[in-house]
Amino acid sequence: MGEEQTNADLFAAVPLFKGLGPNELKSLSSTSKTVQFKAGDYIVREGEAGLGFYVIASGQATVRKRGKTVAKLHRGDFFGEMALLDNQPRSAAVVAEDSTKCIILLRWNFWALVSNNKKIARALLEEMAKRLRAANEALTN
Ligand code: CMP
Repeated sequence: MGEEQTNADLFAAVPLFKGLGPNELKSLSSTSKTVQFKAGDYIVREGEAGLGFYVIASGQATVRKRGKTVAKLHRGDFFGEMALLDNQPRSAAVVAEDSTKCIILLRWNFWALVSNNKKIARALLEEMAKRLRAANEALTN
C-alpha cells in the first residue's frame, strides 16, 4: 500500500472531511502531508507567520496564549485556520501533548478545499463560533 493510499484512509476518518468523495480525498492526500510531533513539540508558535492548516489525525495538543492554556484539541480537531483566514500572525501557540500526528495543508490548498466544499466551510465556521463562545465565557467568568 503506497503512502497516498494510507493518507486517504487517514483522511476518511476525519469528521471535517466526512463529506468528501473518494476523488476529493485522493486529491487531498496528494496535496497535503502528515507530520508526527513528539510530546512537548511546538507545532505552531504564537506570533509567527502562518503557512499551514492542521488537523489532528492522532494524539492531542494544547492551545497556549502567552503561556496560558486556552484550549485542548484532540483527534479530528483542526487549528491554524486563523492566520490563513485573516493574514495575521499566529494568535496562539499549539503544543503537542502526546505523540501527535497532524495532517497539514498549505495556504493555497486550504483555500481551495474551503472554496470548493460548502460543508467544510460550514464546519469551520461552526467550530469557530463555538471557540468564540468559549473564549467569551472564559473572559466573563
Ligand atoms: P492560528 O492563529 O493560525 O494559530 C494558532 C491557532 O490556535 C489558531 O489559528 C486557532 O486554530 C487556535 N486557537 C486560537 N485560539 C483558540 C481558542 N481560544 N480556542 C481554540 N483554538 C484556538
